Order: sequence, then structure tokens, then C-alpha cells
Amino acid sequence: MTVPPPIVAPSILAADFARLAEEVRAVEDAADWLHVDVMDNHFVPNLTIGLPVVQSLRAATAMPFDVHLMITDPRRWAPGYADAGAYNVTFHAEAADDPVALAKDLRSAGAKAGLAIDRDTPIEPYLELLPSFDTLLIMTIKAGFGGQRFIPQMLDKVRAARRNVDAGHLELRIEVDGGIAADTIEQAAAAGADAFVAGTAVYGAADPAEAVRRLRALAERAAPGA
Ligand code: DX5
Ligand code: ZN
Repeated sequence: MTVPPPIVAPSILAADFARLAEEVRAVEDAADWLHVDVMDNHFVPNLTIGLPVVQSLRAATAMPFDVHLMITDPRRWAPGYADAGAYNVTFHAEAADDPVALAKDLRSAGAKAGLAIDRDTPIEPYLELLPSFDTLLIMTIKAGFGGQRFIPQMLDKVRAARRNVDAGHLELRIEVDGGIAADTIEQAAAAGADAFVAGTAVYGAADPAEAVRRLRALAERAAPGA
């Protein structure tokens, strides 16, 4: 296995929405990407933030945005996030009728393209699509809410993806999202994940930047071949 240095992406879902710019600045120097969870109250029951907030945040920080769209009809909305300056735009496999076409649209709009796989979705049908993507987000909870408990069984999907990425020499980040914290990140890293979303574990900590550094150190140490 050849796993690149880990990416740590704090999720602002666990931040104080009344002080978003400040909360972003708290992790700016320590983290790699800022994970932005967009939920539409249709694809998932929860409702969070959308394009106007991403546009405002874009002006407030230089951090790369890792936008996670938990919405129906991503074909209609996803390219707007690329236009707003998102670094990576991830949409759900369950919501897309033509994932490869949408990945192409995102790349031509200047963003990386990400495919997300929810808890109850098997990964096998999507493995052959991975060459069209830059990131694969494997949910380690059921998408919709922060603060849920990590589901270790989801790591079978991470292992399958890692095998596929290595065998095909793909340049694809394998990202895990949900319940990632000091007591779960090592197993995810050992399974072959190389990008780690953490909401509660970062913004629930007294020192969010320190929490990010600690998570990164744990992931580095547990990475295959480390
Ligand atoms: C949930 C979101 C996650 C969420 C993770 O559907 O996709 O990004 O913020 O939160 P924690 O890290 O608290 O599980
Ligand atoms: Zn997310």
C-alpha cells in the first residue's frame, strides 16, 4: 500500500454557526481542508447551510473547502459550489443518476470531484467509477447528523477501496466521515483511509487546533507502511 500523508478536515457542522469565521480561523494553520456539510432536509432529514454561506466563508479564509453535499439533485446544485471556489465537491452516489458525468462537470468547473457512499450502500458497484473521481468519501455513520458513533464495519469498504486504488494506481483520496476521533482514527488509517473528517472531535475540544494535530499524528502513525 502506498498511502500519501493524511489530510485532516474539521467539519464546521460542529462549530458555533454564530461565529463561523472565527471557528474557521481556529483550525486554519493546523488543518488541511475545511469540511462543509450541506444538507437539504430531503436527502437527509437535517438542514444546514448552502451556497451563500460557502460564498461568504470563501472570502474569510484561504483554506481549501471540502464540500460534502447531502442533497437530492446534485446535478443542479453541485457545479455552483465549484464556481464558488470549493476545492473539492463531493456528492452522494445514492442521489446521482450519472455520477461520472457530474464528476466531469465539476472538474471542468475547476474543482476536484468526490463521490460519497452512505452507510447502507455497498461500494462494489462504484469501484469501477473511481478513475473519474479525486476523492471517495466513505460514511462511517449514517449521513445526516454529527456526533454519532463510528461504525467499524464500514472499514471493509475502506479496505476494498484501498485495494482498488492501489491496484489501479489511482490518485484518489479515501476519506472517512463520521465518528472520527482519537479512539477511532487509527483503525480507519490502518484500513487505508488517508483523509479524515472530524466534527465533534475538533470543535468539541478545548483547543481545536491541538485536536487536529493530535488526530494527524495518530493517523500518520497508524498508516500502512508507516
Ligand atoms: C454528517 C456529516 C459529518 C459530520 C461528522 O452527516 O457528514 O461531516 O460533521 O461529525 P462527527 O465528526 O461529529 O461525527
Ligand atoms: Zn460530512
